[in-house]
Amino acid sequence: MTIPNIKPIELSELPAGPETGTHLVDIDHLPDHGGKELIYTEGDLRTSILIQKTGDIVGVFLNHCPHAGTPLNMFGHRFLDASGKYLICRTHGALFNPESGICVRGPCVGQTLRPVAHTIRSGSIYSA
Ligand code: FES
Repeated sequence: MTIPNIKPIELSELPAGPETGTHLVDIDHLPDHGGKELIYTEGDLRTSILIQKTGDIVGVFLNHCPHAGTPLNMFGHRFLDASGKYLICRTHGALFNPESGICVRGPCVGQTLRPVAHTIRSGSIYSA
């Protein structure tokens, strides 16, 4: 899988984003093909990220579709399409590779979800 050369964004740069080194999730707490949305707020500021486990792959992206800027999920922590192979944007149905974040079908083909800088230590994911 080719990963696009896009600099991952640091959560601490984002509105209401947590500081570097913040614990995001324990990978074991994600079921296979399970996802998690994390929302950070401060007053009117809001940042949402998605963490998706697909087999051995764990992707961490801003929950912000490159097509029209909506969150991928309508509600809850569900990000995969019915096939379980792709992240899906519920607004217009764009499909994204869960490892690279590249849109492979839909109105923003070739564009990419913005990866979030993170580290994995002892089975847990932390912001980096
Ligand atoms: S906003 Fe995601 S496909 Fe249109």
